[in-house]
Amino acid sequence: MYRTHTCGELNIKDINKEVELSGWVQKIRKLGGMTFIDLRDRYGITQLVFDENQNAELCQKADKLGREFVIKIKGKIIERSNKNPNIPTGDIEIIVSELTVLNNSEIPPFTIEDETDGGDELRMKFRYLDLRRNPVKENLLLRHKIVKEVRNYLDSQNFIEVETPVLIKSTPEGARDFVVPSRMNSGEFYALPQSPQVFKQLLMISGFDRYYQIVKCFRDEDLRADRQPEFTQIDCEMSFVEQEDILSTFEGLIKDLLKKTKAIDVKDAFPKISYDEAMSSYGNDKPDIRFGMKIKELTTIVQNKDFQVFNKVRYVGGICAKGCASYSRKQLDALTKFVQKPQIGAKGLVYVKFNEDGSFKSSVDKFYNTEDFEKWAELLGADRGDLLLILAGDKNITLNALAELRLEMGTRLNLRKPGVFAPLWVVDFPLLEWNEESQRFHAKHHPFTMPKTEDMHLIEKEPAKVRANAYDLVINGVEIGGGSLRIYNTGLQKEMFKHLGFTEEEANKQFGFLMNAFKYGAPPHGGIAFGLDRLVSLFAGVESIRDVIAFPKNNSGRDVMIDSPSAISEIQLKELMLKVVDKENN
Ligand code: AMO
Repeated sequence: MYRTHTCGELNIKDINKEVELSGWVQKIRKLGGMTFIDLRDRYGITQLVFDENQNAELCQKADKLGREFVIKIKGKIIERSNKNPNIPTGDIEIIVSELTVLNNSEIPPFTIEDETDGGDELRMKFRYLDLRRNPVKENLLLRHKIVKEVRNYLDSQNFIEVETPVLIKSTPEGARDFVVPSRMNSGEFYALPQSPQVFKQLLMISGFDRYYQIVKCFRDEDLRADRQPEFTQIDCEMSFVEQEDILSTFEGLIKDLLKKTKAIDVKDAFPKISYDEAMSSYGNDKPDIRFGMKIKELTTIVQNKDFQVFNKVRYVGGICAKGCASYSRKQLDALTKFVQKPQIGAKGLVYVKFNEDGSFKSSVDKFYNTEDFEKWAELLGADRGDLLLILAGDKNITLNALAELRLEMGTRLNLRKPGVFAPLWVVDFPLLEWNEESQRFHAKHHPFTMPKTEDMHLIEKEPAKVRANAYDLVINGVEIGGGSLRIYNTGLQKEMFKHLGFTEEEANKQFGFLMNAFKYGAPPHGGIAFGLDRLVSLFAGVESIRDVIAFPKNNSGRDVMIDSPSAISEIQLKELMLKVVDKENN
């Protein structure tokens, strides 16, 4: 037997018990004739004591131990004179009577403690050691708990989990596919699924009514803090449902998760706002509604004066930062620099201070009078003491910049409180989206999304105005999930492909199997998929989804621990009938 207890469970009630523990040596301290060791396992830390006066030989053996050695001990629990209130075992320690070294360890490349000296790349290279650290371990435990609750909830709602294949044919979700060459069908490739979209729709045609799967998805896209090339979805689909049925079922899931894993009881229905409202009031389709500070358009009331910058542009909009009229020159310059960052792209920032004495001070004082500023202040809901921040330019770029500025001010003013969760549904997304690169419309969600019938008359002349039965779940400014009602009628699906620029031949080649399946009685259906990594990182309060994935990739899509991707052997290439071409010669 290696242990009678774990390192996280012994306390004052266990005084005088003889116990055996196994674990890793986290820390060794020598104090006079005593040696103290923090013994760690998955469950916690227990302090061990070796007393030179009581057992000199054992104490010498303990002195030879190093960090991360794996040991087994036997000993008696005593009350600690110097208690540690920060850990559950902090009232006790163990006077060791037997010590067995189970394994040695080299000196770890960084300290394995909550606060580590290891940089990101080093910790990724030795991820198995990083996973010994509490903060990372806690995230994985939370992930486990969430997944378990998801399964419980969906099971209670009659959903069944069905696995779908990983080696498939390209699915049209908008990102690039990862592909896998086929040895047995040389010159041909599988694609890894960007999501199980087509399969879950086929399962509905098979009559499975309520499906879910916790599933790996693969997308070859530029990586960010909330994107990994392989990530996990909670993927769901339901038959015989309308949009409201889907939203209420999954609102139930999120509420259940908040309650069971965060002890937060959300009673009210999640707010719903349209895509158009999200864009005009928050500047993007994933608003953080933990705070207000809504964007207001000012175009018409600021134009036709002498300020040419405003006269020349399509859009002028602003936000009101409460209580910030006292901002210094330096603070305003920093905000200007912020909106001018290349990824934000605003040309400049106009400010108006609504001073406590009722006067205004602005960077455009020369062109506008008090009456003008009063109008602006009223529109933006500003009071004395507030600061108006105004941007102008191309509508999309400016709205995006205002969205970023709003978030920045929200952060500066401490309005984005950690531990507060503000979920909402964004609904009525546009069906199509103009793609500059291909100079044609693409499906905003995917080609199987059901358009709103009342908008279909616009599809020829004003395709951008057609709305879809598509929705996203957003929490604290993070897109946690998205889904739609699906087209279940072959005629409409064919028409959609036509509008998306597919010839009949292309549509048949790519989706013939699905179109065929639709001929055999497809039920009305729809679904949603949640990004599990994003959900866990949000619940854990961490910035990057990497922190909630056991073995993540870095920002260049590399796993630096196993050194992947990597070249394959000549033999493998030959078997696959593949040739690698030099970048320079390509
Ligand atoms: P969508 O493409 O919106 O929908 O994806 C669903 C959710 O998956 C998460 N997500 C990601 N998480 C981490 N890294 C990524 N690269 C990444 N890409 C997406 C997001 C997103 O909201 N088949 C449809 C769903 C449906 O219609 O039912 C789909 O995949 O949280």
